[in-house]
Amino acid sequence: MGGATAANQFEGGYREGGKGLSTSDMLTGGTYNSARRITTELEEGAYYPSHEAIDFYHRYKEDIALFAEMGFKTFRMSINWTRIFPNGDELEPNEEGLKFYDDVFNELKKYKIEPLVTISHYETPYGLTKKFNGWLDRQVIDCYLRYCKTIFTRYKDVVKYWLTFNEINILTHGGAAAFLGGGLLFDGIREIKLSDYEDYHLPECFQALHHQFVASAKAVQLGHSINKDFKIGCMVANVTQYPYTCNPDDILLAQQKEEFNNFLCADVQVRGKYSGLAKRFFRENNIEIKMEEGDLETLKNGCVDFYTFSYYSSSCLSANPDVESTTGNLARGIKNPYLKASEWGWLIDPKGLRITLNKLYNRYQIPMMVVENGLGAVDMIEEDGSINDDYRIAYLKAHIEEMKEAIADGVELWGYTPWGCIDLVSAGTGEMKKRYGFIHVDKENDGTGTLKRSRKKSFYWYKKVIETNGEDLA
Ligand code: BG6
Repeated sequence: MGGATAANQFEGGYREGGKGLSTSDMLTGGTYNSARRITTELEEGAYYPSHEAIDFYHRYKEDIALFAEMGFKTFRMSINWTRIFPNGDELEPNEEGLKFYDDVFNELKKYKIEPLVTISHYETPYGLTKKFNGWLDRQVIDCYLRYCKTIFTRYKDVVKYWLTFNEINILTHGGAAAFLGGGLLFDGIREIKLSDYEDYHLPECFQALHHQFVASAKAVQLGHSINKDFKIGCMVANVTQYPYTCNPDDILLAQQKEEFNNFLCADVQVRGKYSGLAKRFFRENNIEIKMEEGDLETLKNGCVDFYTFSYYSSSCLSANPDVESTTGNLARGIKNPYLKASEWGWLIDPKGLRITLNKLYNRYQIPMMVVENGLGAVDMIEEDGSINDDYRIAYLKAHIEEMKEAIADGVELWGYTPWGCIDLVSAGTGEMKKRYGFIHVDKENDGTGTLKRSRKKSFYWYKKVIETNGEDLA
């Protein structure tokens, strides 16, 4: 048990230590109602939340000490590709960037916290966007593998658990999601609207995705050759979708959407091949993936060691186009009348996590980790400085209870790292107001604030949960 973060959302120091610009550094802030903008050059006067984020870059000792105080056993973080290869295509790495992560890993080691490292979490070097249109170009595979070789070799004795790509399935959403997921930028797309499924530019997105699959499979083989004890996993944004009614049309639709969202990528990464459904989808949408000889063999030989996913909510699907849809994490669906929603409209469904774990484990039969889960909420600071986030405790408690049930059902669950264990920038909206943390960070949507850290009520609750290995959830 521990917590999860990503460099682009909490590190800051965006030009320090020789760091280059990543795609996230080009995204302005936004709110629930106004989308984040993609800027092709940094604009004077515009606010970019990733540039300072919550300044982990300078405060990592303090933050890791707080994680240790809660008793974290594991900490999910990403390495920011642009600290190591500022433009993405250099031949030699940036020593200062490597040194920063030496320091972070040493600090984690001091407290016996096991790092779980995402190699690419929405941090594609913007230099690769400009030069190649990101992952659309096959040459980016080599850039990624050079980066992997560098970090696998450097950290082989301090990092054992790796994830090749965060939410690799984001590329199946097409449109603007491709900028975050793969550094692809299309004419006319300047706003990030993650919850919308945008079926334009799908051929390019699937081509880029194929390159990521090949890169991931090669990284798995490379990693195992550098340290045979490495455990290298995939990471999928889970979208649990129920049929809205018992009409077989709804059931079929929900099943197919789940196949598309949750299994298409994992089938390649876990089973080593494209599924029949993927091939049918390509056929029916005139998507022709350009492959090189040996690609299919590479996929077969680069299967991951474990499956990880993010789980926040669920939604319903109806074949009837007149039923109104709502938003959620990376997918739209219909509001489930049996569930309550978060302030951002994401439906809260703890039992859905048990259902999902069982479904995934029955299909893949490899160890699993829930590497993101949590409640994005507005927190109130009381006069005495305390933050009584009982709603967050209730959310997490209910989800942990269901994970315990899933383990009892036979699911091999290796770990749980709730998202944003310390308040950080929202990926979807760019806000600070949407807080997930056990640790409050004094920072507002417009970038003001002292960055002071303070413990919320959930901090003490989670400490007890970890201490008792999930026995005491009261
Ligand atoms: C996942 C991402 O989609 O959800 C994270 O991997 C993200 O980067 C998290 O922060 C929560 O989404 P949001 O939009 O509330 O930040």
